[in-house]
Amino acid sequence: MARSLQELQERYNSAAKQKQMETEFRRQTRGGKGSGPKNAGAAIRRLFTYMKGYWGFMGLVLFCMLVSTLTSLVGTYMMAPIINKLYLAVAPDKALALSPMEQLADRVVISFTGGTGVMDYIITALIVLACVYGVGIITTYLQGRLMCHVAEHVMERLRGDLFNKLQRLPLGYFDGHPTGEIMSRFTNDIATIDGMFSNSLTTIVSGAVTLIGTLVFMFTTNWILTLVVVVFIPLFLLLGLMIANFSRKHYRSLQAALGAVNGYIEENVSGQKVVKVFNHEENCVEEFACLNNDMRDKQFKAQFWGGIMGPVMGNTSQISYGVTVGVGALLMVAGRLSPGGLTLFAQYSRQFSMPINNLSQQMTTVFAALAGAERVFELMDTAPETADKPEAADMSGMAGHVVLTDVSFGYVPEKTVLKHINVYAKPGQKIAFVGSTGAGKTTITNLLNRFYDIEEGSITIDGVDVKDMKREELRSKIAMVLQDTHLFTGTVRENIRYGRLDATDEEVEQAAKAASAHGFIMRLSDGYDTKIEGDGTNLSQGQRQLLNIARAAISKAPILVLDEATSSVDTRTERQIQRGMDRLMEDRTTFVIAHRLSTVRDANAIMVLEQGEIIERGTHEELLEMKGRYYELYTGKRELD
Ligand SMILES: Nc1ncnc2c1ncn2[C@@H]1O[C@H](COP(=O)(O)OP(=O)(O)OP(=O)(O)O)[C@@H](O)[C@H]1O
Ligand SMILES: [Mg+2]
Repeated sequence: MARSLQELQERYNSAAKQKQMETEFRRQTRGGKGSGPKNAGAAIRRLFTYMKGYWGFMGLVLFCMLVSTLTSLVGTYMMAPIINKLYLAVAPDKALALSPMEQLADRVVISFTGGTGVMDYIITALIVLACVYGVGIITTYLQGRLMCHVAEHVMERLRGDLFNKLQRLPLGYFDGHPTGEIMSRFTNDIATIDGMFSNSLTTIVSGAVTLIGTLVFMFTTNWILTLVVVVFIPLFLLLGLMIANFSRKHYRSLQAALGAVNGYIEENVSGQKVVKVFNHEENCVEEFACLNNDMRDKQFKAQFWGGIMGPVMGNTSQISYGVTVGVGALLMVAGRLSPGGLTLFAQYSRQFSMPINNLSQQMTTVFAALAGAERVFELMDTAPETADKPEAADMSGMAGHVVLTDVSFGYVPEKTVLKHINVYAKPGQKIAFVGSTGAGKTTITNLLNRFYDIEEGSITIDGVDVKDMKREELRSKIAMVLQDTHLFTGTVRENIRYGRLDATDEEVEQAAKAASAHGFIMRLSDGYDTKIEGDGTNLSQGQRQLLNIARAAISKAPILVLDEATSSVDTRTERQIQRGMDRLMEDRTTFVIAHRLSTVRDANAIMVLEQGEIIERGTHEELLEMKGRYYELYTGKRELD
C-alpha cells in the first residue's frame, strides 16, 4: 500500500531538513525575518582580513568602476547636444533653454570641432561619444577581471583555512554534525560569499553611483521633471515588495515539496538493492508520482510569481516613461526644456528603476553571504582537539607497555559507555576483547589513540600518560585496522602505502603478503597498480579488509589494533593472516577485537566485555573452565537476555 502524500512529506521532510530548507529559502528570497547575519559588522571585518595584500587591487577596482559608471552616464548625456544641434538646424530661429550642463557639453564638442557646420559638430560629438564608451568598455573589463582575481584568491584562502580546520577537529564534532552539513559550509556558503565578492560588491557600488549620478544629471537639467521621475520610486519599491512577498510564500512551499522529492530519490537510489529484494518498485513509483505531482503544482506557482516580477516592473517603468515624456513635452513647449534635455529624461527615467531593483536584490545576496560567512567562521572557531602539551614526552624507542587504569568514559556526559576498565598489556602480548554488540570494544580502541579524551582513569604507554604525548606521535605508534574499512581513490599500492609513506614497493608487497592480500592483488587486472573505485566498490568486502590490514602491517608501529579486521574473510585466510601478523608483531603489542572467537583463542589474555564492564578475563582455557559468559559465547549456549 502506497502511503499518502501527507505522510510521505512528513517523513521525508524531517524537522532538521525543514529547518535547513527554511534558512536556504530565506537566503534566496529577499528580506525574510532573521535572514541576515547575527553580527554583520564582525563578519565583514573578518572577511576583510582575508583581503590582506589585495587592497591595492581593490583600489584599482573601485577606480575602474567609478570611471565605467561615469562613462555610461556621460555617454547618455552626449545625446543632448547632438539632438539640440539637429533641432537648431531644422528650426534655426528657435531659442533653446539650455541647462548649464548642456551648455558645458555643447562647449566641449565645439572646442574639438574645426568648422561650424552641423555635420562637423555631429561627427565630432559621435567621436567623443565613441571615446567615452571605449574607455567605459576597457574599465568595465578591467574591473570585472580584477574583482574576480581578488574574489577567487579570497575564496581559496577561506577554503584552505576551513579544510585545515577540518583536519584538526576532534572526532566528537563529526558525531554531532552530519556530513551534509559540513559539506554545505564548503559548497553553499563559500559559493554565496563568492557571489558577494565577485558580483554584489561591484553591482552595489556602481548601482549607487549610477543612481546618484543620474539624479545629479537630471536635477541640473530640469528639477521639475526630476521630481516627476522621483515620485515613481516608492511605487517601484512597493510593487517589488508585494510581488516578492507572494513569490516567497510559494517558494517556501516549493522548497518543502522539493525536499521531500529529493529525500525520496536519495533514499531510493541508495537503497535500490533492498527495494528490489522486497519487490517494492511499483509501490515506489506510485509514491513518487504522488510527491512529483505535488511538486509540479507548487513549482508552477513559484515560477509564475517569480517570473512575473520582471514584466511588471518593466511595465511600471513604461508608465513612468510615459508620464515623464508627457510632462517634459509640456515643459519644452513652455520653453523650459530643450529637445535634447527631453530625450535625456526619456532615457534616464527608463534606466532609473534598474539600479533600484539591482540594489535591493544585491542587498539580499550580501546578507545571505554574511550569514554564510558567519557559519563558515563558526566552524573555524570550533574548539580543535586540545593542544598538545608543550613539554610533550619523547616517545622514540617505545616498547609498547599499555596500561589502562580505572578508565570510565561516555561519548555524551549522561551516558557512560565504559566503566572502570583495567587492562595491562606487555610488548609481544596479544590482548583480545570479546563481547556482545555495543559492549564498548571499539570505544576502548578509540581511547587508546585519543580519538576521544578520557575524564576518569588513565591510559599510559611505557609509563607515559597518553595525554602527555603529542597526538601525532602517539598515533604513529599505533597501527589500526578500523571496524569500518575505508579506501581512498588511487591504486592498490598507494592505498597500502598510506600506512607509511616512505615504504618501498618491496615493503608494500611484504605487507600485502603478511595480510594474505598478495594473492588476490596479483589476480586483479593491473596487480598493485589497479585503481580503486569509489571506496573499493570493485573489491569484495573481504578483499577490502585485507587491504586495510596490509595498510596497518606496513607501519612499524609497536602497537597494533585490529577491530573486527577479519570478520568478512574466510576462516582459512583468517588463519593465514594470523600467522603473518604474529610474525610481524613478535615483540609488539596487539589488541584484537573479534566476534569469531576462534580468532582469539591463542591470545595471551581475553577480556569479556558486557555493557562497558570487563566481566571476565583470562586465557581461552581458563575462561572455558570458568563456565561463565565466555563459555556461553564459545559453545553457543548463550541464553537470550
Ligand atoms: N560516536 C558515538 N557517539 C555516541 N555514542 C556512541 C558512539 N559510538 C558508539 N557509541 C555507543 O557506545 C556503545 C559502545 O559502542 P562500541 O562501538 O564500543 O561497541 P562495540 O563493542 O564495538 O560493538 P560492535 O561489536 O557492534 O562493534 C554503544 O552503546 C554505542 O551506542
Ligand atoms: Mg565495534
